[in-house]
Amino acid sequence: LSQETQDILSAHEWLTKLYHHLLRFTKDGKEGYSYLKNRGVNDEAIDEFQLGFAPNVKNFTAEFLHKKGYHQQLLVKAGLITQQDDNQVSDRFRGRVIFPIRNHLGKTVAFGGRALGDQKPKYMNSPESELFHKGKILYNFDLAKKHIRKKNAAILFEGQMDIIAAYQAGIKNVIATLGTALTEYQAKLLNRYVDTVVICYDGDRAGLDAAYKAAVLLRDVGCEVKIAHLQHNMDPDNFIEKYGGEKFENEVIKASDTFISFYMRYLMKDYNMNNEGDRLHYIEEVLKQLAMIDSSIEREYYLKELSNEYNISMDTLSNEISGYREKFG
Ligand code: UTP
Ligand code: MN
Ligand code: MN
Ligand code: MN
Ligand code: MN
Repeated sequence: LSQETQDILSAHEWLTKLYHHLLRFTKDGKEGYSYLKNRGVNDEAIDEFQLGFAPNVKNFTAEFLHKKGYHQQLLVKAGLITQQDDNQVSDRFRGRVIFPIRNHLGKTVAFGGRALGDQKPKYMNSPESELFHKGKILYNFDLAKKHIRKKNAAILFEGQMDIIAAYQAGIKNVIATLGTALTEYQAKLLNRYVDTVVICYDGDRAGLDAAYKAAVLLRDVGCEVKIAHLQHNMDPDNFIEKYGGEKFENEVIKASDTFISFYMRYLMKDYNMNNEGDRLHYIEEVLKQLAMIDSSIEREYYLKELSNEYNISMDTLSNEISGYREKFG
């Protein structure tokens, strides 16, 4: 590592400790501490994830690190402070609850800062840098790795709070993409560690679309994919807070769909199932997906489902799917 990179790493380490200390033990961090308490986060989780608070003071971080001998330009480059046109600097994360983002070695390489109220953006993140590529990092991978291995399964969430809620409830094989689309890099990384990935994104439109894309990527790199189903107004963190970890395991994770079941449900959004033309088109699209399944037992299973649901004979469906299978080789 270059000297500069090492300095950026050590600055992150100082700040992780400082922000955490402020949140945990001082009145300067009280707002942040109360915020987390109100959301049901306990001290153990606060410590485990080194959650912190950046006081709402313009030059707090710059001054602290200046005293430690760091140059301002380095901190600007690292994205810890921002510089305006008039060369004035200010703390990027001021007034926010801090979520250190650790790499696979457990080193903090970036921060996510959550607003205490409705300010925008809800989460402020460190910019991309040599140390931090959002598309390459899986949040919590360092702590989750051994649990992922042991269970031979990983649960994939959208955000930090989902991870913390799950972890606190004893579900530890959990990682998150921090709101962005899963990348091929991350999919391949996961595939090196597990057979099964359960995608558990938010139950809103954005979460559903992102889950579909992530599922295709994971399937294509060779993972067995399951997709969990949450009600529209729910995300994993509020589900767990409301109903607890046991219910989450049993009614969300264990009940997650196979790729095809998910796809059949997901695809319906594009069709008016009361219209015959639409319905037939929908069935064709599903058949195209089913044609890609290698196991004849599995294919048969879903064909039966379609046959029952839409009252089409198995013969007709089998003929149709054979056509697609020849086409795809
Ligand atoms: P969500 O909007 O689902 O937030 O974004 P959340 O995780 O449920 O957050 P809480 O519970 O309201 O605190 C999912 C993830 O997308 C990233 C964050 O990592 C967040 O956890 N995100 C979201 C951003 O980077 N910026 C934003 O403005 C919003
Ligand atoms: Mn990048
Ligand atoms: Mn979301
Ligand atoms: Mn969410
Ligand atoms: Mn949430």
